Amino acid sequence: MSRKFFVGGNWKMNGDKESLGELIMTLNTASLNDETEVVCGAPSIYLDYVRSKLDQRIGVAAQNCYKVPKGAFTGEISPAMIKDCGIEWVILGHSERRHVFGESDELIGQKVAHCLESDLGVIACVGEKLEEREAGTTEDVVFEQTKVIADNVKDWTQVVLAYEPVWAIGTGKTATPDQAQEVHEKLRGWLRANLSDAVADSVRIIYGGSVTGGNCKELAAQPDVDGFLVGGASLKPEFVDIINARS
Ligand code: G3H
Repeated sequence: MSRKFFVGGNWKMNGDKESLGELIMTLNTASLNDETEVVCGAPSIYLDYVRSKLDQRIGVAAQNCYKVPKGAFTGEISPAMIKDCGIEWVILGHSERRHVFGESDELIGQKVAHCLESDLGVIACVGEKLEEREAGTTEDVVFEQTKVIADNVKDWTQVVLAYEPVWAIGTGKTATPDQAQEVHEKLRGWLRANLSDAVADSVRIIYGGSVTGGNCKELAAQPDVDGFLVGGASLKPEFVDIINARS
């Protein structure tokens, strides 16, 4: 089964209207591979602005949200609000949410369930820390994180799974194509063993961690790498090269 290549840009807490406006202009006027689905993760305060400026062929994602539709949760935003701004996706379980803001697997699972019930696509992130890789527990960590996500998914057509080794995020230390392929293949095997062949064959498993215009083609050539979640490089014109990695 062919899986549509998926490239997400995670702008994190970066940019302002001026710089994001320039980036949007670059993306709107670039020649982008039609065979690639592209989504940009904008800071929540700019979601409406970005959606109104970005060409409709490019999706927009929130970088986080809460697990209920509304209420007394100061500072949070809900899937309903995200949808109300015309946004189609949300990134959940990012390692910065897990390790800087202390989000538990349980909370991430609850968010996944509520976003999917709200008809919002989910880019669900998993990944091991350096000490976990060095201790040989990469598989255990990513399987456990994936299980909690899977327990909260009824419809996998709205989910993209992002493998992001924490040691590769923002460090310039990319997983080698073999390292990325090895974990992606195991994750697909987990989906096959625990869910179904149909889910395993169709779910996009994308890689994140120091992806650049220079290393994207080799990573994209791996059979189980179905795209990228890009941080730093998604704020630069080279994001276009990453989108076109399979061209
Ligand atoms: O969500 C994106 C990842 O955290 C990767 O960030 O490309 O800056 O390493 P990075």
